Amino acid sequence: MQQKHARILGFVGTLLLLGAVSAQTTGYDVAFPSGLRDWFEVNSMIVTKDSPIFGQLGGMHLIHVNAKGLTTLKNGGPLPYPDGTVFADDVHEFSLKDGSYVEGNKKAIAVMVKDAKKYPTTGGWGFQVWGGGDPSKPLVPDVAHAITACFACHTPQKEQDYTFSTYIP
Ligand code: HEC
Repeated sequence: MQQKHARILGFVGTLLLLGAVSAQTTGYDVAFPSGLRDWFEVNSMIVTKDSPIFGQLGGMHLIHVNAKGLTTLKNGGPLPYPDGTVFADDVHEFSLKDGSYVEGNKKAIAVMVKDAKKYPTTGGWGFQVWGGGDPSKPLVPDVAHAITACFACHTPQKEQDYTFSTYIP
């Protein structure tokens, strides 16, 4: 768990870094995940104020996968995931109300889109994150940033086709 949090810290720095360069965004070509609310919910994670990184990445993370990748996720393979698979991390604010964590406004949407031919240098996945979940605000400008800001941290997951999530029955 400690390790996972340490990695998320890197993700925070990443988002801040990308925020700084977003003005130069030329639009690294990864499609916005329309309809993600209708996809399968893979898992969720809440980063609370007890976490040292709450200030930057506090939020409710809701991981989804589209229909294309669902069978592979459920069976744990065969890998790699088929082209057309999309994983999306739908990040929301939350509040603690009478002992319950309540979902709030959207903070960001991060995705991984599988297309082996289109994204050969990043494990066959296209990486993108939209600030505020706004389709007009992609923060990853090009493949170089996709590598340093996203792929580098997903690389240790190579055995699992660069994804962290597994099916939780
Ligand atoms: C510092 C490490 C780190 C960086 C950098 C990082 N991620 Fe991740 N990512 C993770 C971890 C850990 C998970 C698993 C989260 C969970 O289980 O809830 C994850 C999960 C995901 C998922 C869900 C699929 C999966 O692998 O389980 C997507 C989509 C995703 N990240 C996209 C991105 C994008 C886009 C970027 C760059 C903007 C990025 N990530 C940068 C660590 C990172």
